[in-house]
Amino acid sequence: MHILGISGSLRRASFNTALLHAAQELMPDGTVITIHDLHDLPLFDQDVEAQGDPALVVALKDAVTQADALLLACPEYNGGITGVLKNAIDWLSRPGVSRDAAPLAGKRVCIMGASPGVTGTVRAQDQLRLILRRAGAVVEPQGEVLVFQAHTKITDGRLSDERTRDFLARHLNHFLEILA
Ligand code: FNR
Repeated sequence: MHILGISGSLRRASFNTALLHAAQELMPDGTVITIHDLHDLPLFDQDVEAQGDPALVVALKDAVTQADALLLACPEYNGGITGVLKNAIDWLSRPGVSRDAAPLAGKRVCIMGASPGVTGTVRAQDQLRLILRRAGAVVEPQGEVLVFQAHTKITDGRLSDERTRDFLARHLNHFLEILA
């Protein structure tokens, strides 16, 4: 099983990227999470798309297409998802000129998020679910991973809070059961 992990934050010390690293550690044998970096992904532009996807877009689309499923780590900015993540989803929601189908069409996606606040990205994740559904992706499983007060649970880039690690492990295992 190969899962592609994407963080909606470009920040070096991102709590959300740290969640992806925790997920990598918590995966059972036989399941691998590869993290795809969104630095330098061009802004979506229909004129550019019409000329053929730029190389970094092709790389992202290939990675998503080849993955069995996606794991998205979703920060919250101003009550919604980050521009970085929305931009990636906009590219991935389109076949472009050289593909038959959009990479997100029918793709199964697990989402999670962390923020220093007390709501733990719940608003951004609600928005992300809607956006992914519009793009034809399937969000699984039902529950939510909302890592609130993330600065108390993620230290030196590591998810150190044991209860949160256990919860995340259970959520990911549930996702894997659905994928099996
Ligand atoms: C934030 N932050 C934030 N947090 C939150 O829980 N709800 C929100 O609406 C916002 N809004 C917001 C807007 C902008 C422009 C910034 C820069 C930040 C705080 C945010 O959760 C915090 O910076 C996290 O650390 C971002 O995630 P990463 O980079 O740690 O993954």
